[in-house]
Amino acid sequence: MMNTTLRFGTLALVAALLLGGCAETKEDKVPTTPEVSVHGAGFADISSSNFHAKYIQGKNFDLSLCKTCHGPDFSGGTSGKSCNTCHSKPGGPENCTVCHGSVNAAPPFDLAGNVSPASRAVGAHQVHLLGGLVGAKVTCTECHVVPAALTAAGHIDNSAHAEVRFDPSSVFYKADAVFSGSGTTATCSNTYCHGNFPGGNGNVTMTWSDTNPDAAACGTCHGDVTKATFAEKAFPKSGHPAIGSMTCNQCHSRTVNSLAQIIDPSKHVNGVVD
Ligand code: HEC
Ligand code: HEC
Ligand code: HEC
Ligand code: HEC
Ligand code: HEC
Ligand code: HEC
Repeated sequence: MMNTTLRFGTLALVAALLLGGCAETKEDKVPTTPEVSVHGAGFADISSSNFHAKYIQGKNFDLSLCKTCHGPDFSGGTSGKSCNTCHSKPGGPENCTVCHGSVNAAPPFDLAGNVSPASRAVGAHQVHLLGGLVGAKVTCTECHVVPAALTAAGHIDNSAHAEVRFDPSSVFYKADAVFSGSGTTATCSNTYCHGNFPGGNGNVTMTWSDTNPDAAACGTCHGDVTKATFAEKAFPKSGHPAIGSMTCNQCHSRTVNSLAQIIDPSKHVNGVVD
């Protein structure tokens, strides 16, 4: 049940369509005893428009409303119905992947159930977090204050979007880096990682939901994308010592091979020149 890939949003829509379709035959149905429930019918049914996840969103994710009857640890309390049978990860419904995320707490899924990286809240999360393609893994703290618990100050504040800020204690921190969100788009500019370092291309603007794989191509952050080989693309436009006929790996052997292919992403975009 918990690993269902269909989110309640989609299912509620399907259910609404089905109910709409049945409207004509409703009168023919044999009347049944209505389901007696504190919450009304369908509260535990993902296909119902009364599904509890929708209700909780409408209450700005305040799970303390549920603890009074379902117990402080959601194991049943006076209601006798445990939340943890379905929400079986540590912390039950307060587990960090219940409202957003799946493999980790970052989208996808976002709060609205979106999975596509083209959506503003999903964007390039997993490319950054899993790392390995071009550079080192990036942690949540680089871009967000990470709450220690659901109820931590600053976590759920009824704003339309997550709060993004760069971590002043990070090796990547640049005081002039800017995050900006508007409409369906969010962008970052002037970040260390995408070019704001000595020898880098300076103020590069990246669109968070850009799904074009060339967005982070060799030469974007430093050097020149229009050149032919990786070595030519990656070579800084200015400030780099002359190298004559030497290959990149003669000095940057921990990061690249003789063809300037990245051999260890953990040593690249990691805050130090290796
Ligand atoms: C006033 C007490 C009370 C409060 C507050 C309360 N519940 Fe319940 N809940 C119950 C009782 C009693 C049942 C079991 C019988 C029923 O469905 O009426 C139940 C059943 C449920 C079920 C169905 C469980 C199952 O296994 O079928 C879900 C889901 C649920 N509650 C979610 C919530 C959520 C989410 C909240 C907070 C937004 C909440 N409840 C707040 C009393 C409460
Ligand atoms: C019968 C199984 C079941 C029970 C019991 C249940 N849930 Fe859920 N809950 C689900 C499913 C399925 C989803 C939607 C899929 C998901 O979020 O992983 C969900 C979603 C949620 C969400 C996510 C809301 C969002 O917008 O993403 C919260 C929070 C939640 N439940 C809290 C509770 C609480 C609190 C209780 C007990 C009071 C409870 N649930 C009991 C099955 C259950
Ligand atoms: C490289 C920067 C970056 C990293 C790393 C990052 N995020 Fe985000 N996060 C963003 C951006 C950008 C947004 C979109 C903000 C907006 O829409 O204004 C966002 C949005 C979110 C949202 C809001 C989802 C929604 O539906 O609105 C959540 C939740 C979130 N991030 C959690 C996390 C978690 C948890 C981690 C670590 C596992 C993480 N993020 C790592 C940049 C990042
Ligand atoms: C009951 C639902 C729910 C649970 C459980 C939950 N979150 Fe969130 N989380 C949200 C919502 C809603 C937002 C967007 C909040 C906003 O900015 O208004 C959010 C936003 C975030 C963000 C983006 C930064 C921010 O504060 O906007 C991070 C990071 C995050 N959550 C991490 C976590 C972690 C870590 C946990 C587990 C300790 C967790 N979340 C558990 C609902 C939840
Ligand atoms: C003779 C040794 C040497 C060779 C060969 C070499 N580099 Fe460097 N590289 C350096 C030094 C020294 C630095 C500066 C380190 C510092 O400032 O801390 C550097 C820094 C860099 C940086 C970081 C930006 C900067 O300018 O500080 C990039 C990117 C880079 N090199 C790319 C390349 C590429 C691509 C090649 C191959 C075409 C290459 N390097 C070949 C010595 C070399
Ligand atoms: C996402 C931006 C980005 C892209 C794309 C990128 N680099 Fe870099 N690169 C950096 C940053 C930032 C540094 C500065 C040092 C550091 O933090 O690792 C760097 C430094 C280097 C260095 C110096 C050694 C080191 O690891 O510090 C080499 C060599 C290098 N890059 C080669 C490449 C090659 C080859 C490609 C394309 C395959 C490439 N880079 C693509 C951001 C990037």
